[in-house]
Amino acid sequence: MFNKNVYIERRNQLKKDIKSGLILFLGNKEVAFNYPANTYGFRQDSNFLYFFGLNQPDIAGVIDVDNNKDYIFGNDVDMDDIIWMGFQPSMKERGMQVGIEHTAPLLSLFEMITEAIKQGRKIHFTSPYRAEITMLLADLLGVKYTNIKNYISIDLVKAIIKQRSIKSDIEIIEIEKAIETAYLMHTTAMKMAKPGIYEREISGAMEGIALAAGGPVSFPVILSINGQTLHNHYHGNQLAVGRMMVADAGCETEMNYCSDITRTMPVGGKFNQRQKDIYSIVLEANMKVIENIKPSIPYRDMHFLSAKVIAEGLKNLGLMKGNVDDAIQQGAHAMFYPHGLGHMLGMDVHDMEGLGENYVGYDEEIKRSSIFGTAFLRLGRKLQPGFVLTVEPGIYFIPALIDQWKAEKKFMDFINYDAVEAYKDFGGIRIEDDILVTETANRVLGKPIPKSISELEIIMG
Ligand code: GLY
Ligand code: MN
Repeated sequence: MFNKNVYIERRNQLKKDIKSGLILFLGNKEVAFNYPANTYGFRQDSNFLYFFGLNQPDIAGVIDVDNNKDYIFGNDVDMDDIIWMGFQPSMKERGMQVGIEHTAPLLSLFEMITEAIKQGRKIHFTSPYRAEITMLLADLLGVKYTNIKNYISIDLVKAIIKQRSIKSDIEIIEIEKAIETAYLMHTTAMKMAKPGIYEREISGAMEGIALAAGGPVSFPVILSINGQTLHNHYHGNQLAVGRMMVADAGCETEMNYCSDITRTMPVGGKFNQRQKDIYSIVLEANMKVIENIKPSIPYRDMHFLSAKVIAEGLKNLGLMKGNVDDAIQQGAHAMFYPHGLGHMLGMDVHDMEGLGENYVGYDEEIKRSSIFGTAFLRLGRKLQPGFVLTVEPGIYFIPALIDQWKAEKKFMDFINYDAVEAYKDFGGIRIEDDILVTETANRVLGKPIPKSISELEIIMG
């Protein structure tokens, strides 16, 4: 964990922003996998980690804004726990590690919240995303679990997003550690992507590298020779020459900061002409955006820039036609690029998404589009120094979508369906990097991971 002053300062900032009431953070619990004692790997809630730093189940934090006091609630271990889990520091000791004097057993949390409700004090909390936390909140607050969403503190949501959006130097170091591991994951995948091997052998090796480096993968590895399925978690195909393999994977550090990198490579290590053509367009979109990212630019503009490079490239290949700007404005490019350019990255791979994507990625000035494709852009608002985000354009040939749009005669002025027909066996390509917005421009985080055609052919060869 960071020095205790980091957590003290973060909580103090929250007090300034929230002004009054109690702020309640429930840490996560262990979740059963197939029977109660056999659990999934424990993952602490990111907001809890950000403000309270402690990475153990069954604890809660309270910030009493009115009385300027911070509390940790959790039970000390007993001898049974020590026998099965080994020695554990006391709650008092854990509290001191993150600058908190006031610790108490979990039962006291119920007393404190009950008393606060009696006194009519405001209790701020964010939207739960796990059933057991929803139930615990319902019990604490004495409301029906289905009504919890009506009591979310939007002030707290906004105050957390304000802080977590701007990454400090010590956070950037953690994210770069996660990219260092991703470098090894992806270059290993590049060396393994030979015909005859199964996808699961590569995805398993990638996950093993993440675990060996100290954290889990930051999301289930996406690895497929059917990269046209955007989040393909099926890893049962055997690699064959002629297919492109999409590998979209990252890891968490021991402190739960994430990386999220995508590389796409030709099975066997040599691009054929058709693969070169499509790959070059996606790479140009990725690099053009990176050239242009700087503070004050709305990320939505960067999304449209990537769409423009993609639509122009596809027009040059004869797959699209007509006026490119009109095509993008109406959403015709989204048949090939049906997702957004990227998202924030931090302690969550889609950073803070649990707080509500529109609060994280949009604001009063820039609202989410409702047009297919652009609607899936997770981050649209103006960039600020300290933002860390992904740049991940792609081109996909999704046979079912092509067939549907063709049957509906959609965008006949912009899509050359006869030419597209020949690409229905192509798959997909995505290229993703992690970027820090600096005071003047941006920096691609981590050691460069091969992405040009020649770099890929060399490492795969
Ligand atoms: N890397 C997966 C995603 O961004 O959705
Ligand atoms: Mn991503």
